[in-house]
Amino acid sequence: MLRSLILIPVALIGFASAAQIPVHEVSIEPPLLPESTSNELLYLHRKLVEIESITQNEEKVGKWLKAYLEDQGFTVELQEVSEKRYNLLAYGSKRDTSILVSSHIDTVPPYWPYYHNKTTDIIGGRGSVDAKGSVAAQIIAVLGLKDKLLDDISLLFVVGEETGGDGMRAFSDLENRPDYDVVIFGEPTEAKLVCGHKGIIGFTLKAQGKAAHSGYPWLGVSANDVIIEALGKLLILRDHLPWSKKYGNTTMNFGYISGGVAMNVVAETAEAKIAVRIAAGTPKIVQGLIINALKDVKTKAQELGGDLDAVWVSEGYPPVDIDCDVEGFKTMTVNYGTDIPNLKGDHKRYLYGPGNIFVAHSDHEALKKKELEQAVLDYRRLIIATSLSHTEEEQNDM
Ligand SMILES: *[C@@H]1O[C@H](CO)[C@@H](O)[C@H](O)[C@H]1NC(C)=O
Ligand SMILES: *[C@@H]1O[C@H](CO)[C@@H](O)[C@H](O)[C@H]1NC(C)=O
Ligand SMILES: [Zn+2]
Repeated sequence: MLRSLILIPVALIGFASAAQIPVHEVSIEPPLLPESTSNELLYLHRKLVEIESITQNEEKVGKWLKAYLEDQGFTVELQEVSEKRYNLLAYGSKRDTSILVSSHIDTVPPYWPYYHNKTTDIIGGRGSVDAKGSVAAQIIAVLGLKDKLLDDISLLFVVGEETGGDGMRAFSDLENRPDYDVVIFGEPTEAKLVCGHKGIIGFTLKAQGKAAHSGYPWLGVSANDVIIEALGKLLILRDHLPWSKKYGNTTMNFGYISGGVAMNVVAETAEAKIAVRIAAGTPKIVQGLIINALKDVKTKAQELGGDLDAVWVSEGYPPVDIDCDVEGFKTMTVNYGTDIPNLKGDHKRYLYGPGNIFVAHSDHEALKKKELEQAVLDYRRLIIATSLSHTEEEQNDM
């Protein structure tokens, strides 16, 4: 980072004895972006954050962004993902570009209003980090590129990333979708390039029992007993799941448990919702381990007249390796999921964005103005580096 320390003697004039005057050290950092670019970035970011766009309610922000991008000279296509929910695809003189720059316009609940504290230069509000910081920085970055490169870039802003990625999956399946060489995804990565993220598989464990008076429990089958025994097995299993040097341990979160209706009734049903973040192997392997660990509990429940089943949320995906071979960037791996596996194809893929994931879904979601500005520069750097490397590859192919 550029940083110049300029020593400024403060208020030399007007004091009787110059010898007693302390010399204040004032650190002046050169601006990262020209003022007009920085102002445009903050304006765009503020507008995006001010418009609430919790997943399922992305229409308004999408409409605003479409108009903004059209004002900037882009052609914008809307793709309807479900009723009143649209992905935006924006491009310049041609639709079939080599590079795609993408992020998501939906946020998690609840809505928190936008603020910009000018003293601390901290900008907050729901989505300020995840992922409207990325969206704004990507657009400003692309707008600053020269014609030839600019015309080889498309922007894609999808809905539904926070709840399973229906937006990106719809885009992946879009008829006439260009075949990109490079896709740059925006999510909060603390301005680092991410070399990969864990996979995931989620499931609901459902126990079925038979209700009875709690004074005569042998007349019923307690679904709560079944689920507790099952979770006990999973507590043991979760310390023995596949791991890898790159991603660490596979982890298992019992995110939600419920069962029964009252203390004096034998519970008829119980369930637990569980997410597994996969560090090695595949969802199939993890599924096999879970089913095996629960086998005896299921058999026992069935013998009593109850049951136990795992209902899988989706087929899940294994750990996702991501390209991070660009000089001058710090790198890391992350434990959260992204839209990356939802876009099928044989493209190079990168993941970068301003802000910290740890604040992203919290009530203190915020970042510094400087982080946004740095992201504009970094996205440009990333686009230029990747466009050069894929052009070289094409030349080598010839
Ligand atoms: C800005 O942040 C500072 C330091 O946390 C705080 O003292 C001040 O009240 C804030 N200003 C506003 C307008 O919220
Ligand atoms: C992985 O799990 C093992 C055993 O439970 C533990 O000792 C180790 O610290 C964990 N590693 C990480 C990176 O969390
Ligand atoms: Zn996100």
